[in-house]
Amino acid sequence: MSDKTFAIKGNIIWSKDPQTLNIVDDGYLVVQDGISQGVFEELPEQFADVEVKDYSGKLVMPGMTDLHLHAPQYAFRGVGGDMELLDWLNTYTFPEESKYADLEYADKAYTIFADDLKDSPTTRAVVFGTLHVPATELLMDKLEETGLKTMVGKVNMDRNNNPELDESTEESMAATKQWLADVKEKGYKNTQPILTPRFTPSCTDELMAWIGDLKEQEDLPLQSHLSENRTEGAWVKELAPWAPTYGDTYKHFKQLDGKPAIMAHCVWCPPEEVEILKETGTYVAHCPNSNAYLSSGIAPIRHYLDEGINVGLGTDIAGGPELNMFTVIEEALNDSKLRWVYVDESLKPLSLPEGFYLATVGGGSYFGKVGSFDPGYEADVLVLDDSDIKTPIDYGTEQRIERYVYNAQDGGKVEAKFVAGEQIF
Ligand code: GUN
Ligand code: FE
Repeated sequence: MSDKTFAIKGNIIWSKDPQTLNIVDDGYLVVQDGISQGVFEELPEQFADVEVKDYSGKLVMPGMTDLHLHAPQYAFRGVGGDMELLDWLNTYTFPEESKYADLEYADKAYTIFADDLKDSPTTRAVVFGTLHVPATELLMDKLEETGLKTMVGKVNMDRNNNPELDESTEESMAATKQWLADVKEKGYKNTQPILTPRFTPSCTDELMAWIGDLKEQEDLPLQSHLSENRTEGAWVKELAPWAPTYGDTYKHFKQLDGKPAIMAHCVWCPPEEVEILKETGTYVAHCPNSNAYLSSGIAPIRHYLDEGINVGLGTDIAGGPELNMFTVIEEALNDSKLRWVYVDESLKPLSLPEGFYLATVGGGSYFGKVGSFDPGYEADVLVLDDSDIKTPIDYGTEQRIERYVYNAQDGGKVEAKFVAGEQIF
């Protein structure tokens, strides 16, 4: 029997639909060759011989996908939250990212990042590197070793940069080709490349057009930033007066083409841009911690969900200061309440099951059948120990997962983690 065939016993929670949680206490999640066969109250006869990993009394939920974060920014997480986006980039971010030209520094920083991501409740992640090819390949090597499934991008940026973090258009193209060739040769099992134009202000039209062609030719996924901050949006209007919306600066160059693409933030999208997201099936990476930390605003996630737009959650390290995805669910729920009170009473707050859904199925679906325990889904599993979140009250499983979301940093432990049936720890 394959070591990716087993059952997990515990109090099992997963999404039935965006509004509803499934809960089976003292149930069995059956995994065969890394794929969920479903959750059962009793171990079915046909699986009577499989190894049962007994986590009785613990919470068992699908792994979470961090749909947007910057690995090189992990080093300065939680420092420098006193500015808005453009000043923050120039003052803290670009100088820090320029250090990744030095592989020795990159090795130190990426070792810490990969170790912490491995220990976190994240099972899949979509990651920005820097513009440097050697450091980005080092990052991919390290993430490959964690066993987590990730997509990683060498960043493209050929205008409006500072002198230490700079590439010409030609250098950006050549470096991207070299990186993709190297990655093909390395033959990673867990780690995929994703095209990563930083955002429109950082990329010339010539580079954007080249990246769009490459996306089409090589059938690669793509990630970038969209309508995060009002000053940024006004700048894009100046840089691209021909574009009806910021979103058109990606769509025009075939970067939003109906094939997999992620746009982080989407706080300030006008209706025409929402239409682009919708018609192209683009994923919105909602990063509420970052949007608060950098005073960007509160994205209208209820509206996006009502429109049928794909939405997942991201930490946006280090725009967001925390790597733990439970804090992102918490902030998404809380900010949706504030938005409802202060901005738009017609957009009701997100519920706990909706936050749970966005962190699991919402972002997971970018990787395929990921984020659920329904039969046929890849078995990404978290076993949570909440015994150190102390209370004399004897809560049921639904309340326990609710308070875990809000109190994960206060004694919550991930006791075991599996990705596609492979035990990480
Ligand atoms: N827009 C362009 N680059 C970045 C970045 O590094 N972080 C955030 N939050 N937004 C960006
Ligand atoms: Fe970002």
